Amino acid sequence: MNFRCSSAPLADLGCDGLAIGLFSSTWEQQLAGLLGPRASEVQALLEQRQFKGKPREQVTLTLPGEGAKLLLVAGLGEPEHFDTQGLRQAAARLAQASRGWYLNSLGLALPLEAFAPDQALGALVQGSQLALFQDLRFRSEVEPSGDPKEICLQGIAESLQEQLPQQQAICAGVELARELVAAPPNVVNSLSLEATARSLADEFGCELTVLDEAACRERNMGAYLAVAQGASIPPRFLHLVIRPNGVVRRRLVLIGKGLTFDSGGYNLKVGSSQIELMKFDMGGCGAVLGAARTLAQLKPEGLEIHIISATTENMISGEAIHPGAIVTASNGKTIEINNTDAEGRLTLADALVYACGLEPDAIVDLATLTGACVVALGSEIAGYWSPDDTLAAQLNAAAQRAGEGLWRMPLQASYKEGLKSGIADMKNTGPRPGGSITAALFLQEFVNAEIPWAHMDIAGTVWSEKGRAQDPAGATGYGVRTLVEWCLAIAAEQKEGLSQ
Ligand code: BES
Ligand code: MN
Ligand code: ZN
Repeated sequence: MNFRCSSAPLADLGCDGLAIGLFSSTWEQQLAGLLGPRASEVQALLEQRQFKGKPREQVTLTLPGEGAKLLLVAGLGEPEHFDTQGLRQAAARLAQASRGWYLNSLGLALPLEAFAPDQALGALVQGSQLALFQDLRFRSEVEPSGDPKEICLQGIAESLQEQLPQQQAICAGVELARELVAAPPNVVNSLSLEATARSLADEFGCELTVLDEAACRERNMGAYLAVAQGASIPPRFLHLVIRPNGVVRRRLVLIGKGLTFDSGGYNLKVGSSQIELMKFDMGGCGAVLGAARTLAQLKPEGLEIHIISATTENMISGEAIHPGAIVTASNGKTIEINNTDAEGRLTLADALVYACGLEPDAIVDLATLTGACVVALGSEIAGYWSPDDTLAAQLNAAAQRAGEGLWRMPLQASYKEGLKSGIADMKNTGPRPGGSITAALFLQEFVNAEIPWAHMDIAGTVWSEKGRAQDPAGATGYGVRTLVEWCLAIAAEQKEGLSQ
């Protein structure tokens, strides 16, 4: 999508379609301000339709005479409750309503007074662009969708035009994550993810290290390889490094669970466990590669960013790991695999040990780790765990700015009891109650306590069955925006620290 910023009045933008948002209390006055002489005519049409300006109300009007031929109106509710999330969703709804009208230019005018200009720009660009995202790769016939050729952001100063590439980079990252997650398991596998990482490295000049099975064995990654041994596609441990143009002040690691298919292994997924959806079990990998797509383009000052994913699939075969097997992770800890379906934490264990070896300033991992997290928080909120209050606060703020739901969960130390094994250092699964917490506690066993670390369970948010205003149904690309916001905030913070 092409975007243009303009502080000129809506009627002067030369758009053939207009999209506006109106508050319930003041909509008549707003209309007069936006449409001038055409306002009274439009007001009559809206009254005819019983328009009240309530949240989620939406009206489409075709206009006779000179100027724009289409007017899309979204109700915004009361101004007191209109926040960035409301702005993002209004942009998304209006963009979706413009589909099918083959507009040359859609003039988008929403009340921006309450927002900082860069915040408003982000909400408008991301909201509209990501709402119009379509994945047509797997259709043999494609009908044109009639999207506008351009969206003109009314009320955004022309000087902010220079921030559009950054916003486009964020959208491109989310779209990459969506495409990776939505692609089926016979298309996206460990080898294709390696190819994706390779093309990012080539395009943006990053360094890529790939460990094959032998290299992982040399590093004693017994937990990861135990999961991989049932697959006929070879495992690939991916490590991409984004370096800043100048000096390095912070080293950050982003780890994504990269199970391109999770059958459960010998603890096979049966009944209502949605085995056919388990292509999304590389959603963590998709999110970190999506974030890499954005961050490699932006190259935030002072940050060295490491992207890691231990990719494989969890399959059954004569080679596959037995339930009850005991394996040794790369930090020497022994694990009794009492459930082969708790495979993600096994792959993450070795990825976390590897990440700690890089001596970073912080590690964040993202994983579609537990059904228990879906039960706890549903599909709009991911859970996160961190022993570090500073990192936790940073992630919370980043998710807030990104408009992604994120809620801190407890690392209840006493629940470690549930992971006790009668024969090895630990089991890989505890009891069902608190299952997402024991999963996080399991991961913590593989993190050096001195390194700030957070774990995000994105099992619920990776996929949207029905779709939401800003998300078409299917893969959401969840996590990319929060990770990017977090990295940009760290970059800004250390820069500020220097100037003081
Ligand atoms: N990938 C699944 C988690 C999952 C389940 C994600 C449903 C999205 C929707 C993970 O590998 C898994 O199977 N977890 C088990 C853990 C259990 C065996 C302790 C689960 O949640 O059932
Ligand atoms: Mn599983
Ligand atoms: Zn899994």
